[in-house]
Amino acid sequence: MDLAGQTAVVTGAARGIGREIANRLAGAGAAVAMVDVVEDTVVQSAAEVAGAGVAARGYRCDVSSFDDVAAVGERIVADFGRVDVLVNNAGITRDKLFLRMTPEDWGQVLAVNLTGAFNFTKALAPVMLKQRSGSIVNIASVVGLAGNAGQANYAASKAGLIGLTKSLAKEFAPRGVRVNAVAPGFIRTAMTEGLPEEAQNQMLQVIPLGRMGEPAEVADVVLFLASSLAGYVTGQVINCDGGLITAR
Ligand code: NAI
Repeated sequence: MDLAGQTAVVTGAARGIGREIANRLAGAGAAVAMVDVVEDTVVQSAAEVAGAGVAARGYRCDVSSFDDVAAVGERIVADFGRVDVLVNNAGITRDKLFLRMTPEDWGQVLAVNLTGAFNFTKALAPVMLKQRSGSIVNIASVVGLAGNAGQANYAASKAGLIGLTKSLAKEFAPRGVRVNAVAPGFIRTAMTEGLPEEAQNQMLQVIPLGRMGEPAEVADVVLFLASSLAGYVTGQVINCDGGLITAR
């Protein structure tokens, strides 16, 4: 999977799955723009990725702000000259049973997880459409397919992301831009480390492969979708969940 000469943009890239995606895309030769709301960490993470001998740069940006994203998108295009891959990965949770969920819990999760992808796609899709090539990968979740008690806001945001993915795949296909989603299951990151041990053990019992996934395993699926090996794949949701969803 050779991405030499290409530029990839990854949101939520300071840590976790996003950082690993940036690392994998850089490993395939892409220059990487790493975006995150936590500036110090994303600049540090970019310095580590750049150590692999490719261009990598960190940018502070709140994906939920349309103006912030438009400005950072312009800087990225000015710095790298082109955009070939956009990975909308930034995401948050505000888990609560629905009756306790506040409008703020709902609004924040939708703003980052779904509107964030809208904002970055608005900023960078025109560059790809003009180039007549590109790959957009949205990081959804199996929860967006199956639902989950205590995550109505998160599940709705991820289901929305899947609808966005399928619609844009149809709109952008005539101009050579592919749009797909990856739906991870239970992946070992800070997001899942916070779950109570009992909840973690319950999850492990229903995962056919019997273990959590690693960020690198999600990054490998993203790398495939970003590359020309997936040249005839668009509008798809690829689960990366150890068999969790098919098991139900
Ligand atoms: P994480 O919490 O470790 O990393 C998320 C990153 O997004 C952080 O660096 C954070 O600073 C950044 N971020 C948060 N709000 C932002 C904003 N407004 N603007 C820019 N950056 C922002 O989470 P993790 O686990 O790496 O998750 C990455 C993606 O994968 C998320 O979209 C998440 O919903 C999804 N996912 C994760 C799963 C898991 O089991 N860890 C399972 C399914 C999906």
